[in-house]
Amino acid sequence: MNVIDLLPSPHQYFTLAVCLLQSTVADYRKPVERQRPSPIDYDIDVHTGFFPRQPLPRLTGPYAVWELALEEAAEKLSLGEDDSEDALAKRGTGELWRSQMLSWPVIDTEPLERNLRLLQRAHLVLAWLVHYYVHSAPPAAEDVASVVPKSLAIPLVAVSRHLGIAPVLTFADTVLWNWDLVDASLPASVDNMRFVNLFSGTEDERNFYTTSARAEFRGIEMLRIIDEYNNLPNLTDLTSISKVARDLGRLTGIINDISDIIQGVRAVVDPHVFYWDLRPWFEGSDAKGPSAPGWIYEGVPNSGELDLSGPSAGQSSVMHALDIFLDIDHKLRQRRYPAPSDANKRADHGFMDRMRRYMPGKHRDYLSSLAATPRSIRELAQRTPALREPYDSAVMALKRLRDLHMRIACLYVVTMSRSTPNAHAGCPVASTMDRLQASRAAGKGPVRGTGGNELSLLLKAGRDATRRAALGSRV
Ligand code: HEM
Repeated sequence: MNVIDLLPSPHQYFTLAVCLLQSTVADYRKPVERQRPSPIDYDIDVHTGFFPRQPLPRLTGPYAVWELALEEAAEKLSLGEDDSEDALAKRGTGELWRSQMLSWPVIDTEPLERNLRLLQRAHLVLAWLVHYYVHSAPPAAEDVASVVPKSLAIPLVAVSRHLGIAPVLTFADTVLWNWDLVDASLPASVDNMRFVNLFSGTEDERNFYTTSARAEFRGIEMLRIIDEYNNLPNLTDLTSISKVARDLGRLTGIINDISDIIQGVRAVVDPHVFYWDLRPWFEGSDAKGPSAPGWIYEGVPNSGELDLSGPSAGQSSVMHALDIFLDIDHKLRQRRYPAPSDANKRADHGFMDRMRRYMPGKHRDYLSSLAATPRSIRELAQRTPALREPYDSAVMALKRLRDLHMRIACLYVVTMSRSTPNAHAGCPVASTMDRLQASRAAGKGPVRGTGGNELSLLLKAGRDATRRAALGSRV
């Protein structure tokens, strides 16, 4: 970076000098430890962030049967709860598809362990197969658990332990790893990615993954900002403070862009298709609430203790990095204002922490390293008047993002949960799904998100925790 760009104007110099005198920066003299691990250690690419730089290689040899089953799945399977003509026509092929898994041997995954990308591919393939297997089966009685055959369960748990990720479909399997290059001669970018595996086979589903990918890519610049902040030699001189102020401004711009990206989903993803044709495939073991029997992983000891909620953008490491950097207190550990409402207190405060268990272990380690940095930008802003407004602007941009995201979640989930599938007139897939609707309505009570949490309480609590980080420069 050009040092000249970082120098403030004479007027800014004066303001900053006064602010610096007012602030107690002594605690910030100590530079952050120099021997910090590099992004590569955390499997973060300088150009593609949390995405691998290349598409994952396909599995071969004994594992090719898994790949083949995944290739055939979309064509052969339909939702078990779906009684539409199209779905009924697939019942026979679906039965055969599932029965082959019962006869498969448990394949040893040890040969994959030396290659991170092959392990990730194995996770993707097996996790997709598990969700296809469970959700294409005819609905069982309410008190009967879904049994995932050992040919899928045992290898999925084994590769997941190596990767440090939950043994179920995750954000990584649907977004970070689920793409091929459109033009193999060009580098990976959101416009050069084509999302491959789709449960519903609809463009809406592809667009849903693309929207998340776009937000992830926009977040890469934010990772750089965070890294540069943590590597500044000191936070006491005018140049450094000026840079932090400017970077907080850049961060606000990035958060606003991510808001626009999320808002963009409305133009490309039909809420009916999302709720009725896609979301049921995502459901994990606990989607029907704590009293439902959930899933059993055959051959896996204590399988009831596994993390088996489905995928969620709440597992996006970019969003967690932002929360950590701005010091958003989702767990209500700090005394901040306004005090949490009763509804805030009732929300699931462990959700964001739990979602980290669904991230690749190396990405989770990166977040832990961020959380462990001794340099809280919020504390610095508190002590440095010149940083209060830029810090609050970033926080309020994130609060607006969560407001907007709540409206999207409301439209795509809460409102749709009260809709009828055939309100989607003209769509052949959604012609008769009355039974599905009845079973969803039978879930009664509040609308649930990933992991069976109470959706509106959760999202509002996240929004309010964000607002509470603001220092009050203008809110
Ligand atoms: C149609 C689009 C979307 C819908 C319907 C939607 C819905 C939801 C729902 C229902 C939750 C609650 C937790 C859960 O059930 O997993 C959630 C959480 C979350 N979503 Fe989305 N989402 C959408 C797009 C996005 C995008 C594009 C992002 C950007 C990365 C995003 C980021 C998050 C985050 C970070 C959380 C965790 C809770 C929070 O931070 O407030 N979502 N979303």
